Amino acid sequence: MKNIVLIGFMGTGKSTTGRLLARRLVRPFIDIDRRIEMKAGMSVYDIFKVYGEKHFRELEKQVIFSVSRYTNTIIATGGGAVLDSGNISRLRENGIIVLLTASPEVILERTARRNERPLLAGEDKKARIVSLLNQRQKFYDCADYKIDTSNLMPYVVVDMVVEFLRKGGYLRGRS
Ligand code: S3P
Repeated sequence: MKNIVLIGFMGTGKSTTGRLLARRLVRPFIDIDRRIEMKAGMSVYDIFKVYGEKHFRELEKQVIFSVSRYTNTIIATGGGAVLDSGNISRLRENGIIVLLTASPEVILERTARRNERPLLAGEDKKARIVSLLNQRQKFYDCADYKIDTSNLMPYVVVDMVVEFLRKGGYLRGRS
């Protein structure tokens, strides 16, 4: 069975959806950012602060390349994983790509709860979100299926992903 890979901007619900989806389908769940933190022995925030974004992207690529060999796994990526076309083609070889989106207002609200995103540190967070979203739009367009999570509870998002997978014939048995 193929992996199910969640992509999308920060605060669109990739980790929450991924965890719930894995539970629902009784499959393993991997959060790429958590794997990077385990590999580096420090938080994503500290990797950016100490070594810079370039180093983070290298670690991200290494983790994505190793994880994409798995099968039957739910994978939540970091919001910038799509910036590298190699990452996407690698994940796609063995996976179905699902994009989660949300409005800038909702992203602002969700990411304000915890101050752990180095790319959103600084003054005008909303302007930063809008600018990054614009830059990244074309990269997020690679998905097989898209869901706007702005007004949806996580379990509804999971239902929608499951429905999409079922219709596409990607699921066996009952889920
Ligand atoms: C990033 C998103 C973060 C994390 C890092 C960079 C990005 O993950 O990988 O801070 O470039 O959008 P989340 O999308 O899980 O917040």
